[in-house]
Amino acid sequence: MHKSVDLFFVSSNNHKYLEAKEILDSFGIKLGFFKSNLEEIQSNSLKDIASKKAIDAFSKCKKPLIIEDAGLFIDSLYGFPGPYSSYVFKTIGNKGILNLLKQKRKAKFISIITYCDKNFLESFNSKLDGSISKYSKGKGWGYDPIFVPKNFTKTFAELKNKNELSHRFKALKKFSNWYLHKMESYDQ
Ligand code: IMP
Repeated sequence: MHKSVDLFFVSSNNHKYLEAKEILDSFGIKLGFFKSNLEEIQSNSLKDIASKKAIDAFSKCKKPLIIEDAGLFIDSLYGFPGPYSSYVFKTIGNKGILNLLKQKRKAKFISIITYCDKNFLESFNSKLDGSISKYSKGKGWGYDPIFVPKNFTKTFAELKNKNELSHRFKALKKFSNWYLHKMESYDQ
């Protein structure tokens, strides 16, 4: 039987889903969207947050799924906003971040993708180095208008190929290798 969906992306963030879908499509994995607000524990570890989120997601969706926890880490702010990126974006936003920074602008995005089904709970992480631009540039969601990946001059919001190089792409690529291998061994 031809399945229309291989697994679900559980999140309240439509932008993240659309990016993850395009990326996983390119690896031959069909991703459905299960929209849900997930419980987010307070922790300094993205991996712990992601694992708890995935277990909460599985209790709601009850199908093989992935969730993502991501964060922006700014070197000169000792890793802030890090695991609090979502809250910081909703409060001080990009303008607030730009106001906090002086000369040193190095930053990185980290993404953790966690897969959960009734037998497995597996996480895949990746980071992408870059810097914070002086001004907000381009139209994009979240921190896209202020994040410039290393070796580029444009922000994520200005780049056409974000999905070929992002932190999300790198974590999903690791996940896909594992997932496709797992499915192959189940088929035999
Ligand atoms: P969370 O994984 O939903 O907790 O995401 C943390 C926050 O980081 C999001 O609300 C966004 O503001 C931001 N964020 C994560 N990934 C990206 C991205 O690819 N572009 C822009 N902002 C991002």
